[in-house]
Amino acid sequence: MSRNSQPAERSLTVPLESRSYPIRIGLGNLQDAGSEIARRTKATQAVVITVPEVGRRYGAKLARSLKDAGMRPHRIEVPDGDASKNLRQVKRLYNALIDVGADRSSAVIALGGGMVGDLAGFAAASYLRGVPFVQVPTTLLGMIDSSIGGKVGVNLARGKNLVGAFHQPRLVWIDADTLVTLPARQRAAGFAEIVKAAALWDAEFFGDLERDVDDVLSLQPEALLATLQRACEIKVEIVARDEREAGVRKLLNLGHTLGHAVEALHGYKKVLHGEAVAMGMAFAARRSEQLELAPEGTADRVRALLERAGLRTELPDFPRADYLRAIGTDKKRRDQHIQFIALRRIGKAETVSLTPAQILPAGALPRRKKARPVKAAGRKR
Ligand SMILES: NC(=O)c1ccc[n+]([C@@H]2O[C@H](COP(=O)([O-])OP(=O)(O)OC[C@H]3O[C@@H](n4cnc5c(N)ncnc54)[C@H](O)[C@@H]3O)[C@@H](O)[C@H]2O)c1
Ligand SMILES: [Zn+2]
Repeated sequence: MSRNSQPAERSLTVPLESRSYPIRIGLGNLQDAGSEIARRTKATQAVVITVPEVGRRYGAKLARSLKDAGMRPHRIEVPDGDASKNLRQVKRLYNALIDVGADRSSAVIALGGGMVGDLAGFAAASYLRGVPFVQVPTTLLGMIDSSIGGKVGVNLARGKNLVGAFHQPRLVWIDADTLVTLPARQRAAGFAEIVKAAALWDAEFFGDLERDVDDVLSLQPEALLATLQRACEIKVEIVARDEREAGVRKLLNLGHTLGHAVEALHGYKKVLHGEAVAMGMAFAARRSEQLELAPEGTADRVRALLERAGLRTELPDFPRADYLRAIGTDKKRRDQHIQFIALRRIGKAETVSLTPAQILPAGALPRRKKARPVKAAGRKR
């Protein structure tokens, strides 16, 4: 597709008073990032933090753009995978930042998915008590969720995201063309968080997604940009009302109580975060109907849309006791009760305080497959 027939670039603002910042969404706009980064950070050097896979594909283009804008670019790579989101890598980043002489006139730029954004953002929040930070997300999840809102942090061996800070970026720069190289499975997982945003906030957008799901996942430019824009707007609206997650921002945890449990029960392997959220959301919608909070048919629409994106919606086959334990150790637990996010209808969510056993009563899980007889287990076919 020729460049001038492409839909126009979109721009929105995260309104947080003196910490307000723009989100710019385009196609093939990575080479233009440098001048805006220079303008927003006033930095003379730029330290790009990325993973090898993303650095190899997009690092040179971003570096050229930074150079053209008069900044000295550096690149630091961390190993791929959420296992890198830890304090050891943070320490490595501090040392690398010292090595390149980074000071408050240097910007830290996260180029990659949510893992890189959270890790680089945490380094930027704490190095010299905070240096300017820019998000250049290259996953669908990063674009519409993790790059917006200023939550940064790392995992500890004892739990995910237990250490962190709020450090708003100066700019979020989205080149949706980078999604071309993102594996389809990652694309679908990011789409789950888009469905989440629509389900909890905007019924009309949910309808748009039902119409456009195939076009979005095949990266048809119009549908993709419109969807990115609306999903970003929703996150922005929620963050602007509740920067520190005291109230409405909690609604973004729709599908995450069971989602986190599914991830934990899989030892954080095998299932992607968005895939687990899809299962958790389908469950939350069904449970909302059972609790007579949401009208009949709500859960079917949620499930059908997720399945059209190729996402699984049945909770995996673990014993109920394991689920209850996993829900109980969710860090959002408060006394015995948990803030469960329920749907009132498509486009509206609310927090209800429930115990793990109320969230997951006996019989709420699909019937377990019988364990195969020991005799047959080892037999080859
Ligand atoms: N801060 C927040 O508010 C927030 C919100 C949601 C999630 N998160 C965090 O985000 C992380 C998950 O983010 P994610 O789903 O983006 O995962 P990720 O960052 O691990 O990226 C997924 C995979 O995609 C690859 N990749 C990235 N961009 C690519 C591209 N354009 N082409 C090809 N491959 C590419 C990466 O190398 C990686 O293997 C988790 O650590 C989660 O805790 C944070
Ligand atoms: Zn999530």
